[in-house]
Amino acid sequence: MITKKNGPFSWATLGVAALVVIQALVSNNFAGAAPAADQSTEALQGVVQRLLPRSYHSVFEFQLVPNIPSPTPENKYDVYRVSNKNSTTTRILIEGSSFSALGRGLKYYLDQAGQVELAWSGNRFDELPKTPPKVPDLELDTNKVVTTGHVRGSFVPHRYYTNVVSFGYQFAFWDWKRWERELDWMLLNGINLLPAMIGQEYVFRQFYHNLGLTDKDLDSFFTGPAFMPWQRMGNLQGSWNHDLLNSSAANELAYKNKWIDSQWDLQKLILARMKALDITAILPAFQAFVPRALVQKFPDAVFKNSSQWSYFPEEHTNVTYVLQTDPLFTQLSIQFLELQQQLNGEYKTHFYLLDLFNELTPACITPACLKDTSVSVTKGLQKVDKDIVWVMQGWFLQNGAIWTPDATRAYFDGIRSVNGSTFVMDLAADSLPTWPSTDGFYGNDFGWSLLSNFGAAQGLFGRLPKLLTVPFEVYQKYPTNLKGIGVTAEAINNNEYIYYTTLELPWHSPSEVINGEKHLEQFVRRRYGAFKATTRVQSAWNKLRQTVWDCQSGQPSQSKSIIEKKPALNMTIDSWLGTIFWYNQTVVVDAWDQLVKSTLYEHHANVPKSFKFDLVDTTREVLLAVVIPALHKSLVESYEANDVEKVKSYGRQIITLIQDADRLLNTNPLFSFGAFVREARKSLNPVGSNKQITFPNQPGPNGPTLAGYQQFLESNARGLVTWWGPVGNGPPDALPDYASKQWGGLLFSYYLPRWQLFITQLVEAAVSKKPWDRDDYLAKNLARETQWQSEVWGRRPGETWETNGQESVQVVRELWNKWRKLAIKVAAGGKA
Ligand SMILES: *[C@@H]1O[C@H](CO)[C@@H](O)[C@H](O)[C@H]1NC(C)=O
Ligand SMILES: *[C@@H]1O[C@H](CO)[C@@H](O)[C@H](O)[C@H]1NC(C)=O
Ligand SMILES: *[C@@H]1O[C@H](CO)[C@@H](O)[C@H](O)[C@H]1NC(C)=O
Ligand SMILES: *[C@@H]1O[C@H](CO)[C@@H](O)[C@H](O)[C@H]1NC(C)=O
Ligand SMILES: *[C@@H]1O[C@H](CO)[C@@H](O)[C@H](O)[C@H]1NC(C)=O
Ligand SMILES: *[C@@H]1O[C@H](CO)[C@@H](O)[C@H](O)[C@H]1NC(C)=O
Ligand SMILES: *[C@@H]1O[C@H](CO)[C@@H](O)[C@H](O)[C@H]1NC(C)=O
Repeated sequence: MITKKNGPFSWATLGVAALVVIQALVSNNFAGAAPAADQSTEALQGVVQRLLPRSYHSVFEFQLVPNIPSPTPENKYDVYRVSNKNSTTTRILIEGSSFSALGRGLKYYLDQAGQVELAWSGNRFDELPKTPPKVPDLELDTNKVVTTGHVRGSFVPHRYYTNVVSFGYQFAFWDWKRWERELDWMLLNGINLLPAMIGQEYVFRQFYHNLGLTDKDLDSFFTGPAFMPWQRMGNLQGSWNHDLLNSSAANELAYKNKWIDSQWDLQKLILARMKALDITAILPAFQAFVPRALVQKFPDAVFKNSSQWSYFPEEHTNVTYVLQTDPLFTQLSIQFLELQQQLNGEYKTHFYLLDLFNELTPACITPACLKDTSVSVTKGLQKVDKDIVWVMQGWFLQNGAIWTPDATRAYFDGIRSVNGSTFVMDLAADSLPTWPSTDGFYGNDFGWSLLSNFGAAQGLFGRLPKLLTVPFEVYQKYPTNLKGIGVTAEAINNNEYIYYTTLELPWHSPSEVINGEKHLEQFVRRRYGAFKATTRVQSAWNKLRQTVWDCQSGQPSQSKSIIEKKPALNMTIDSWLGTIFWYNQTVVVDAWDQLVKSTLYEHHANVPKSFKFDLVDTTREVLLAVVIPALHKSLVESYEANDVEKVKSYGRQIITLIQDADRLLNTNPLFSFGAFVREARKSLNPVGSNKQITFPNQPGPNGPTLAGYQQFLESNARGLVTWWGPVGNGPPDALPDYASKQWGGLLFSYYLPRWQLFITQLVEAAVSKKPWDRDDYLAKNLARETQWQSEVWGRRPGETWETNGQESVQVVRELWNKWRKLAIKVAAGGKA
């Protein structure tokens, strides 16, 4: 785990974090973001109609009101007031100083009056009372009695969401329908600033064509869909392994071009909706990274190659860039921004993302030179928009060997010396904050963000006590520069309560003391409904709050199950994303026990979707974090004792457990590899148009085809969650298995064969009394994985697309009966 900020540092492990950024309105004028009072609130009615049952469609009256007195001096941004319009009707009046305030006001009503929660795993909006309730006088979460309208405001102007790498891990294959839902979710959660990264290759492709490059020159530059975030940051370039698909670089270029076109169509819809909901976009700026072929076009300019990233071969990393102090950089920066503006038509923003050194080594690292760099960049940006805000993710500062206090200060001083504005997202402020070592970014505007999930992995994890206090402390320390709070998780669909809580913080008073137990209790009530949130269920969640969400080990992210790692004799990996679980397993198993029991004894009909999700999630945790390591330990001990029968018997139990876990996970599409592959294969048409996809140029026997395109998308999906690059083996801190998943289908088709081979070899070794040969294992395993990379999902028996059609609750109970005793025993330290 990462404990030292300035010690030896491996980019490869931190490798894939993301950057989100935010903006920095340095000035006073946040009101500038608010729509004029006469602006139509029609878009909000659209949100209501998409989300809520019909009887709620004409209940809400939204009004933009600029001057609602703020509830505290600090909570002065995006103030809303929710009240009953009059005593005789159920008309709910939601007033707010901005669309974001109105959206948050709507959520307030749904929370307090409706007692429902919009969650990724499902919601209970269809259980809202037929007659819309009035806003109650008593606020359930605070026990405060309110008689003249419920007023809240945010103590930071910006609430932001996503990490740039989420555009690979989470959103790569999303269609408009899914985006539309997420944008509605964002509005309700008060998010008003969002990196809009989709489809930018459309602008870049045009930009390079304008500079005289051909499609062929771009061949080795653009990555496949799943890897674009890292290409954008100059970590990676090109795509790989086409030979495995019997394809060619030329075919892949054809596919990438189709993809870029369709993503641009998607981006247009996203930007239009963001405009309608008044969510500010952070658009990309020119980040200096260019195709290698550009060098010949500008013989007088200075180009450099970036450092190698995460063991990638030179062909796919060491990305070429224009030196930021070269006049060409300024020229290209201007040209790119102008082209993007032209292509975006009426959509405008002042916020631009520009990360020059994400997990890369700058060409020169003296303070003077870094200052020259930031001065040059800022001046270039200002030539296009004098109010431009340079948004950057603070992740690059993790490399303390380069970014010493002097170097960092010089870099930021450069921006201010020319009156530039910046907004730094302290990307993983929840675990690896950089605000303390930079004294709050030396007076620049910044945002406190929670990252918490790296690599889109599963696993219950959180640091709740700190989350409930630290952002308030940071605000008290830097009240004028802390301008935002955000969620920069690399992926969603995990630990939802942690993200929910983060986004709620800005709406509390920064001097409030939040009662963690009560806060969670209210959340669970809304998530499941009062009928299902029984004492037993609440007690289970309270146990999880005190264990899985109270990680005190210092690690920034969840641990991994050994199931996702390549089998070995010693699978104790004591590093970040290692295999050590910090919590009291007895308590976690007990919480699981209570949740399952509640399905047996309490309200087993009509189980809410989120409850089913949580049942699958906690069962997953117990089987794969608690039980399987104990079985593995006994397996290895039996092998070491040359006890062939016991090796076989533990081996059989491990195989059974993996198969059981696979069946469990496959009951829910959010834990299904098949669902992910389907999303990828369908993503060639994200806006649902009827446009036929054809490849007019020389398809021939080996040319691009629709089937080849879909397989390209599938192989990107497969590659991201497994090899994460051209090869499946590498040093321990390389990327293979970095983005591993506890997903149904992946366990069955990818991890299970690994374990089967391992167990077979251990049995052979025990029989022959020869030591197990790990190198031989890795070679054989790699051959099998290589084949898997190019397979077509659905062809082998058992490869289901969405779910296996089995009922989660049923499967959970079955597995509980089967594994409960063992789980309790090993959690208490007993042998399997
Ligand atoms: C309450 O609202 C109804 C319907 O909009 C309206 O007819 C009535 O006059 C209102 N009553 C008061 C006291 O404002
Ligand atoms: C590629 O071609 C080889 C040889 O013809 C064949 O065995 C293999 O299945 C093909 N792979 C794919 C992904 O089409
Ligand atoms: C960058 O790398 C490419 C490919 O290895 C090489 O041809 C080129 O000379 C390098 N450029 C610089 C400026 O080092
Ligand atoms: C790639 O970067 C590494 C340093 O990270 C450097 O040693 C190597 O020479 C670079 N290769 C090229 C082609 O620039
Ligand atoms: C920055 O702004 C200040 C105050 O408006 C002004 O006096 C100064 O000349 C500006 N500096 C530059 C480099 O634009
Ligand atoms: C297993 O590896 C870890 C470090 O990865 C080490 O601390 C531990 O001592 C090893 N266990 C055994 C039994 O060798
Ligand atoms: C774990 O929790 C159980 C139940 O509360 C308790 O008996 C046990 O002592 C705890 N174990 C540790 C290591 O703290």
